[in-house]
Amino acid sequence: MFKNEIIREAVAEFALDKNFSVEHPAQENLGDYSTNVAMLLAKELGRNPRELAVDLVNKLQENKKLMKQIEKIEPAGPGFINFWVKDEVLIQALNEGLQKGEALGESDFMKGKKVLVEYSSPNIAKSFSVGHLRSTIIGQAIFNLYKHCGSKITNDNHLGDWGTQFGMIIAAIEEDSNFDWSSTDMQKLEEIYVDFNKKIEETPKLRTKAKEAFLRLEKGDESAREIWQKSVEISMKEFEKIYKKLNVNFEHVLGESEYIKIMPEIIEEAKSKNIASIGEEGALIVKFLDKRGKEQMPPAMLVKSDGSTTYFTRDLATIKMRLFNPELKSDLYVYEVGGEQRLHLKQVFAAAKKLWPRETEKTEFVHVAHGLLSLPEGKMSTRKGNTIKLDDLLSRAEEKAVGGLVMSVGAVKYNELKRSPGVDYIFKWDEALSMEGNSAPYLQYVYVRTRGILSKFGNKLEKIVTDKKKFVNEDEKMLARWLTLRFVDGEVMESAARNFAPQQICAYLFETAQKFNGFYERNKVIGVENQSLRLALTVLTGEAIKKGLSILGIETVEKM
Ligand code: ARG
Repeated sequence: MFKNEIIREAVAEFALDKNFSVEHPAQENLGDYSTNVAMLLAKELGRNPRELAVDLVNKLQENKKLMKQIEKIEPAGPGFINFWVKDEVLIQALNEGLQKGEALGESDFMKGKKVLVEYSSPNIAKSFSVGHLRSTIIGQAIFNLYKHCGSKITNDNHLGDWGTQFGMIIAAIEEDSNFDWSSTDMQKLEEIYVDFNKKIEETPKLRTKAKEAFLRLEKGDESAREIWQKSVEISMKEFEKIYKKLNVNFEHVLGESEYIKIMPEIIEEAKSKNIASIGEEGALIVKFLDKRGKEQMPPAMLVKSDGSTTYFTRDLATIKMRLFNPELKSDLYVYEVGGEQRLHLKQVFAAAKKLWPRETEKTEFVHVAHGLLSLPEGKMSTRKGNTIKLDDLLSRAEEKAVGGLVMSVGAVKYNELKRSPGVDYIFKWDEALSMEGNSAPYLQYVYVRTRGILSKFGNKLEKIVTDKKKFVNEDEKMLARWLTLRFVDGEVMESAARNFAPQQICAYLFETAQKFNGFYERNKVIGVENQSLRLALTVLTGEAIKKGLSILGIETVEKM
C-alpha cells in the first residue's frame, strides 16, 4: 500500500522547519502529491524558491527508495514540488485494497489511545427533540470513525434525568389525587410538565412547591423518588424504540442522576482548592479569570442560593468520574451537544482543568456542536416547532423511500451527515431521497450497480485481483488514484476523525460515485483486454462506498 509518508520522509531530509505540507494538488493533472518544502526552505535560506525547487527535485530523484514508487517529480508554480506515483504501485494498492476486507479504509493514527464519545443525551419526561436526533446521528458517526482509527473507544448516553424540571413533574403528580400511571406515556408526561408551567403563571405559589419537590428528590424522599423512577422508565422505553430504529447502541447510559452521590465531594473540593467562592445572594460560583484578573467568561454556578445543585455541578461530577474510573478514563472526550451549550461546556472544561490539573494535563475535551435543524411546515412539526415525533419522520420516510426502513433511515442519516455539524438547515425530503444528488439512495444505487457487475463474475469478491501493470487510459488511472491514495491508505478516515467531520466521508463517497459513473459511461468493463483491471476498479468502488456508508451508520442493500 502506498503511504504518503514515503514522500514526507524523503522531503524531511531537506527541511529545516518540519511544518511543511504534503498534499494532493487541487488539480489532478498536477500530480498525486505536492509539497511546499522548497518555499519554506527558500525563505529561511534567502534563496529563490523556484530555483531551490529545481535543486531539490534533482536531489530527490537520487533517492532510490522514493523512486521505486514515484514515476516523476517536477517543480511547479512559484516553488512547489509535485510527485506522480507509478502505475504499478497504484495497481498493487488496488489489489491490496481488495484484499483488506473489513479493514478497508481504516487508519491507526489513534492506536493506543482511549476515546469516550458522549452523544444523544435526551431529557427524561421531555420528548426526543430534533437536536437529540442530530446528536445521535453525528455522535454515532464520530464514534464509528474513531473506532476504525485504532482507538479503544466507548460511548455514553448522558441522560438528562435530573434537574428542577422534575420538581414540577413531581409536584404536579402529587397534586393530582387521581393520577393513574398505567395510562401514562411520554406524551402525557410532557403534557403534565407543560400544564404545570402554565399553572405556575396563574398560581406562583406552585413554583415553591416544585422547588421543594426537587429538593426532596435530591435528599432521597421516597414519594419523589418513585415518581422520578417511573418517569425514567417510561421515557427510556420511548428512547429505546428510537435507538433500535437508528441501530444505535450505548455501552454506558449514565444519566445526570448517577453523579448526585459525588456532588458534595465536588463542592468540597472546589471550595478547598479555592476554585469556588460565595457570590451575590449566597450562591457558590466559579469564576474564570486570566492572569491579570480579567474575566475570561461569565462565572458558572455550582450551588444555587437555595442549596440545590446545577447542570454545571453535574457536568463537573461527570468529568470527575470519567477521569478517575478506569473504565471511562480516556485521552479524548468528545461531547456531541447543541451549539447553544457552547458557553456551558467551555465553563465545564475550564473548571475541570482547574480542579484536576494533573489528571487533565494531557486530556482533550472537544465539543462537537450541532446547529439547528428545522422541519418543513406541516404534519411533522409540533406546536413548539423543534420537537417532532421521530416515529412520524421515520415512518414517513418509509412511505417515501423505495426499500423500506433500511433505505429511509439511511437517507435521513446521510442528509444529516453530509454537512458540517455546526450548520443550520431545513430538512427536505426531496433532498434526502434524491436519486441523483448527494444522498444515501444515490450512493446505495451506485453500490448496487457495482454489485451487478460483480454478479456477472459469480459474485466472488475474494477472487477479484488484477495482474495488469499499466493503465490503458486516464479514466482508469484517475479512478485508481482516487481510490487508493485517499481511501485504501486510510487518509479520508483519519482526516474525518481528526476534524470531527463525518461530512468529509460523505464528500469523498459522493465524488467516488461521480467518478465511477463517468468511468463506467465511457469504458466497457466486460469483454475487454483490460477487463481484470476494470473489474477491480469497479469492485473496489463498491467496497469503498459500502465501508464509508457503514462508518456513517448506513447500511447498503445488494439489490434495488
Ligand atoms: N440533556 C442535555 C440536553 O438535552 C444534553 C446533555 C449534554 N451533555 C452534557 N454533558 N451536558 O440539553
